[in-house]
Amino acid sequence: MLSTISTIFFWIGVLAVVPYLILVFYGAYCCPEQNLKKKYNAQWALVTGGSSGIGAAIVRKLAGQGLNVVIAALDDATFKQFKETIVKEFPNVQFRFVGCDLSEPTGETYLNAIKEATHDIDVQILCNNAGYITTGGYADLPMKRELANFHTNVTSGLVLTHHFADLMLEKGLKGLITFTSSSAGFIPNPMSALYSSTKVFLTTFAASLAAELAEPKIDVLVIHPSPINSNFYSNAGKMSALTSAQKISSPPSVIADTICRNAGKVVVSDQGPITVIMKIMMTKVMDWNVFTEIMKLGLRFNGDYKAMKVQRPLKKEN
Ligand SMILES: NC(=O)c1ccc[n+]([C@@H]2O[C@H](COP(=O)([O-])OP(=O)(O)OC[C@H]3O[C@@H](n4cnc5c(N)ncnc54)[C@H](OP(=O)(O)O)[C@@H]3O)[C@@H](O)[C@H]2O)c1
Repeated sequence: MLSTISTIFFWIGVLAVVPYLILVFYGAYCCPEQNLKKKYNAQWALVTGGSSGIGAAIVRKLAGQGLNVVIAALDDATFKQFKETIVKEFPNVQFRFVGCDLSEPTGETYLNAIKEATHDIDVQILCNNAGYITTGGYADLPMKRELANFHTNVTSGLVLTHHFADLMLEKGLKGLITFTSSSAGFIPNPMSALYSSTKVFLTTFAASLAAELAEPKIDVLVIHPSPINSNFYSNAGKMSALTSAQKISSPPSVIADTICRNAGKVVVSDQGPITVIMKIMMTKVMDWNVFTEIMKLGLRFNGDYKAMKVQRPLKKEN
């Protein structure tokens, strides 16, 4: 009896981990770099949040492969400087710049601006990459700020994917749609509750969309980066978990390389050892429900929680 139970658990363990590791190994070591311009017979790509970090690295990678690129990002000093640099770096590539705020709830204004910038071209590679993290207790932060974060991370990807997927289907074009998600979505993330939830949304959405768009040959790729050194951390506020992650971070170019290797080969790309270890530990070894209970009990002893929690004077009971 005991040996039957052990055998069952052994096979459950094997089935949970081995096929996953085979996919990870395939994505990381068996997919050579592809030229996406050739693969999709494409002329134009669009990258959101393409003015810095991972987005800028994707822009450089695609431009290096001969693709023309539309870049949509906040119209600020970072974007201004990036525009000047990128046109000098790639004098033979065409760029179109759309300065816009992707946190707009309906997406109407930035979609109109993007439609205007792309009305005469076919965008066949869409990289939904813009995003950021807001740290602090969910109820302690202004709702407006949380919603702006939600719309940037989630709504902008939904709006742009709908627009460009529809156009590709209408014209019968091959293409690629990517989402920069995060391994933060593997676990509950108290004190940045919204961020991890937006990333789980992207992953689930992308996985469903990948199946819907497989037949018309539009590939969907969702990436879970291991920590990447970018402005993400400087804009994140002080949180020791993030400071530690930054210390072991890789350059943004590894994500651009991953996109070129994994496009059309896998749907979910767990990039780097930290993401893979987190996925195994947090979703396969440790049960999610159990992990949630441990976090609920243990958070009050966590330094970040103690430092960030807003102390509210208790009202006297009548
Ligand atoms: N870095 C990591 O370790 C890591 C790990 C997992 C996932 N990610 C994800 O990777 C993506 C890119 O982040 P990153 O690390 O490259 O950080 P980053 O350097 O801060 O880049 C974020 C980009 O998004 C743009 N952006 C932010 N808010 C925007 C808005 N409201 N409207 C338009 N553009 C906006 C930024 O423009 P400005 O520069 O002008 O603000 C910038 O171009 C994000 O989705 C992030 O969640 C990052």
